[in-house]
Amino acid sequence: MGSSRLLFFCWILPLFVANLSLGADPYFQSRCVDTAGNYTANSAYQANLNSIFSQLTSHPDFNYGFYNLSAGQNPNQVNAVALCRGDRNQDECNTCLNETVSELRQLCPLYKEVIGWSEFCTLRYANRDLFGELETSPGSCLYNVQDVPNPDRFNQVLDKLLTNLSSLAAAGGPLRKYAADNSTVGVFQIVYAMVQCSPDLSEQECGDCLSVAKYGIGGCCLGKIGCRILRPSCFLRYESEPFYQTPIPLPSPPHSTGRKVSKERKIPLI
Ligand SMILES: *[C@@H]1O[C@H](CO)[C@@H](O)[C@H](O)[C@H]1NC(C)=O
Ligand SMILES: *[C@@H]1O[C@H](CO)[C@@H](O)[C@H](O)[C@H]1NC(C)=O
Ligand SMILES: *[C@@H]1O[C@H](CO)[C@@H](O)[C@H](O)[C@H]1NC(C)=O
Ligand SMILES: *[C@@H]1O[C@H](CO)[C@@H](O)[C@H](O)[C@H]1NC(C)=O
Ligand SMILES: *[C@@H]1O[C@H](CO)[C@@H](O)[C@H](O)[C@H]1NC(C)=O
Repeated sequence: MGSSRLLFFCWILPLFVANLSLGADPYFQSRCVDTAGNYTANSAYQANLNSIFSQLTSHPDFNYGFYNLSAGQNPNQVNAVALCRGDRNQDECNTCLNETVSELRQLCPLYKEVIGWSEFCTLRYANRDLFGELETSPGSCLYNVQDVPNPDRFNQVLDKLLTNLSSLAAAGGPLRKYAADNSTVGVFQIVYAMVQCSPDLSEQECGDCLSVAKYGIGGCCLGKIGCRILRPSCFLRYESEPFYQTPIPLPSPPHSTGRKVSKERKIPLI
């Protein structure tokens, strides 16, 4: 499951809670958002938040690992968006969400707006709409302290791979916006990368979010052999070892490619 390699924190924003929690994911990251304010203990907001938490840990559907939840009425309404990593199954997704709920309960008590990033899922909740909103901050970043031996070549290959993956993920459709692949840097050197957006973003917004994330490499982990750039609406990760699985297939899109293929084949025959 978790990687044994050494990872260090790199904070993108000065505001943070410097807690390395002892939960299942040693690299769990969170942001307790000050600007949204706090709720009071035993308030309606807390009851609604608890309702969100129990919905998250007991939902019957997988929905490709994406959840848009809401509880209560304004001004105490709580909205939440949860996204599991695109290569995870329902069990892994549920476990991750459950752990993330426990982490956030401990790390950000009383905050109305919170973001948590586990290795296999992201959970956000707030007293405002989150669904369909492109958000690139606050963010966080983790990196492997080891330097790549050939940064110029490495960065060139990585940049190309991430650009490719970003277009693939952005074009992924409303169920899942995820892509992962590897690229050869040199003899015995391969870089493995993954990108994912919240699937409620448009193709354009997903591409924009991943551009911001990719740009964030420069301020966090340039020349390092592994890195995770975490944003509310998207994330990217690369490593020098494989770290992802084959995702659960999506249902085939309504327009089958069969027609296209036969059309293309007809042209040279005419
Ligand atoms: C969530 O985790 C707690 C322990 O932290 C466990 O007691 C509970 O059964 C788990 N719930 C689900 C739905 O997995
Ligand atoms: C997502 O949740 C919000 C808040 O409840 C709701 O207004 C919206 O219709 C939901 N969208 C979808 C696609 O479920
Ligand atoms: C919100 O609550 C936290 C404790 O959970 C506290 O540290 C923080 O100062 C509070 N923020 C505001 C704006 O009251
Ligand atoms: C990017 O995508 C193109 C077309 O899909 C492919 O030919 C190329 O090899 C890819 N490059 C990388 C670095 O993955
Ligand atoms: C790299 O990815 C390709 C699919 O794009 C896969 O066939 C190949 O096995 C992967 N290579 C390694 C070393 O993981």
